[in-house]
Amino acid sequence: MSFGETDLTNTLVHLGRGPNDCGRPVNLPIHQSSTILFEKLEAFQAARDARYDPGTLYYGRYGNPATFELETMISALEGAHGTVSVSSGLAAVSLALTGATKAGDHVLVADNVYEPTRGFCDTVLARYGVDIEFFDPMDLPSLASLMRPKTAAVMFEAPGSGTFEVPDIPAIAQIARENGAVSIIDGTWATPVFCRPLDLGVDVVVHSGSKYIGGHADSMIGFIVCNEATYPTMRRTAVAFGERAGSQDVFLSLRGLRTLEIRMRQVEQAGLAVATWLREQAQVLRVLHPALPDCPGHRNWQRDFQGSAGLFSVVLKPVSDDCLHAFVDGLRMFGIGVSWGGYESLVLPVAPNRVVSPWQEDGRVVRFSIGFEDTDSLTQDLARALSFLK
Ligand SMILES: Cc1ncc(COP(=O)(O)O)c(C=O)c1O
Repeated sequence: MSFGETDLTNTLVHLGRGPNDCGRPVNLPIHQSSTILFEKLEAFQAARDARYDPGTLYYGRYGNPATFELETMISALEGAHGTVSVSSGLAAVSLALTGATKAGDHVLVADNVYEPTRGFCDTVLARYGVDIEFFDPMDLPSLASLMRPKTAAVMFEAPGSGTFEVPDIPAIAQIARENGAVSIIDGTWATPVFCRPLDLGVDVVVHSGSKYIGGHADSMIGFIVCNEATYPTMRRTAVAFGERAGSQDVFLSLRGLRTLEIRMRQVEQAGLAVATWLREQAQVLRVLHPALPDCPGHRNWQRDFQGSAGLFSVVLKPVSDDCLHAFVDGLRMFGIGVSWGGYESLVLPVAPNRVVSPWQEDGRVVRFSIGFEDTDSLTQDLARALSFLK
């Protein structure tokens, strides 16, 4: 069976399902594995020697047939040399940064990254003698000026967490490469459906598969997606930490991937419909959404992305804590909780943390993840809750 290279959903449906024998279930089973048995000592020794190579069955911690199928599939979607699946998105971030650095190195981290990424850098990496410096991802000249001979990695996110500025991905990757640093991007928002950062020159993409890839708010998994130069170190670093993705989460990711493109196209439309509606509301100062023309970096989004996810924020006019609670609590169609990318809509106030260029907006920032409810019901619910802000 062969499919046109451009038809992403055909690929999503047919890859990652194991050998094409006749008489098999549609889906791979959940592979529970620790010990792998070998007929002969020689075969065991060969597996041990090749244990870091993808596809080698040696011991459960190194992966099993379902893990290998999933990693191969993510690599195909991203145009990557190899993918390492780990236990969460944050594990992917922290292992990628650990794999790219050593004591004495300097690391540049975008000022708008996911807050726990900042936390890992400021606490753990700094404790191991890595010099952490934050940069404004929208200010390329300043990034270039901050590069040092010891800069080992540039960590950034597109778009920024909670505030959705879209940096110039190829330019940041080029500045890093010219200075001998590894570029690492958190690509969770776009998924490989809407952006393939390796094609834009980035070395490593990290994903929280707990979001859109799993897609149903019930699995925790992360991916470190690598070019050829970075793959061996990333794989060995994850193995050295004893990291692996859980079997059930591997199964749920393979299952989530089948519908990823369809779900992304749906949340793109629904997200834009709700964002556009919110822009017209008197209580809303700004909508922070990469596909809207006034979003910082909108032109970068137009050039480098093939669509927009259903996650965006609004800046409300300044209101008291009580009013903010009344608004959020008053929403009936939106769950309150961290994470995003599942089938139900979510709401969460966010407080942008900046050390380089202070966050200038006066009003409260509230993030929405738009799910599969119909958008008229969502906007009616929002209209009712917004009335509590008056
Ligand atoms: C942009 C981004 N990256 C990484 C993570 C971490 O992923 P996980 O929750 O799977 O550890 C999150 C989680 O919210 C996120 O929003």
